[in-house]
Amino acid sequence: MAVIENSKLTVVGAGAVGSSTAYAALIRGSARHVVLYDIATEKAEAEVLDLAHGTPFTGSSDISGGSDISAVEGSHVVVITAGAKQNPGQTRIELAGVNARILKSMLPKLLEVAPNAVYVIVTNPCDVLTVLAQEDTGLPPERLFASGTLLDTSRLRWKLAERAGVSSSSVHAYIVGEHGDTEFPLWSAATIGTVPILDWETPGHPRMTQQELDQIAIDVRDAAYKVIQGKGATNYAIGLSGARIVEALLRAENAVLPVSTVLDGQYGISGVALSLPSIVGNGGVRTVLDTPMDDGELASLHHSAETLRQSLATLGI
Ligand SMILES: NC(=O)c1ccc[n+]([C@@H]2O[C@H](COP(=O)([O-])OP(=O)(O)OC[C@H]3O[C@@H](n4cnc5c(N)ncnc54)[C@H](O)[C@@H]3O)[C@@H](O)[C@H]2O)c1
Repeated sequence: MAVIENSKLTVVGAGAVGSSTAYAALIRGSARHVVLYDIATEKAEAEVLDLAHGTPFTGSSDISGGSDISAVEGSHVVVITAGAKQNPGQTRIELAGVNARILKSMLPKLLEVAPNAVYVIVTNPCDVLTVLAQEDTGLPPERLFASGTLLDTSRLRWKLAERAGVSSSSVHAYIVGEHGDTEFPLWSAATIGTVPILDWETPGHPRMTQQELDQIAIDVRDAAYKVIQGKGATNYAIGLSGARIVEALLRAENAVLPVSTVLDGQYGISGVALSLPSIVGNGGVRTVLDTPMDDGELASLHHSAETLRQSLATLGI
């Protein structure tokens, strides 16, 4: 796909997630200019150099950056990955206090140089931080949202594709709610091709049962803990997820992606950010879709919202 001329992406945070996001964006040609910004000068400059050395093998995208905030100037999209990450066994919510402080100090400086950008929050707990950032900046919810359960949805589609023996692009299933322990799949609307998930027949295998699907949902929910236990961070799949959101924005795709926006009455929920299938295109989240849910799914959505509301309350928001 052609790189949009003059499009500019800034990735804030040159750690495992930020540098992987920049790498994915360069390889996929998500934006013409990619900037990697971090307060840690040496680290940021080293990552930029290493990425730049590979650009003769990528398309026409270029990379620059460092610790000078002026590099961010004029960005169309800013993806925020800066902040503390989970230690093995730690939940995302436990990062809230420290990352809220980092975000609060960073946002005014970013907005000064990139006042018209769309802001995508990846730093965890991304749903909680989105509410905080939205209140702090006053940006409309469509222009400031979190990557939310796009990564979890990708994990789910990969697992179902493996089980069903089909391409993951033929698996139509979503994880919604909190990007965290209360997230859940919308099984009632899940299909492979056009076949409802429980009716799918894989040659040589029994049909999937609800019990098997429940276990898949648990594995997806706990996937990050397993990866962090083994290698200290999750970075490649979130890097690709971030690049995918950037493409939907800069190419005005109107793609349906599960991202997290501050809700305003959808399903009776307000003032909390959580993920629902949404149309992402020019300028941000254009519509949060009114996706049909069964009673169990609605109850899970409200449970997720309540959990997030409690986390916000402990932060005094
Ligand atoms: N939403 C998701 O799906 C998802 C997935 C994976 C990781 N994450 C989150 O992404 C975040 C980053 O993870 P990581 O593994 O890259 O961590 P990391 O420790 O490798 O990198 C974090 C970087 O942020 C930088 N930083 C800190 N304060 C800054 C500031 N004020 N301005 C600019 N940069 C600053 C640090 O210098 C560091 O380089 C974590 O909060 C992690 O939980 C989110």
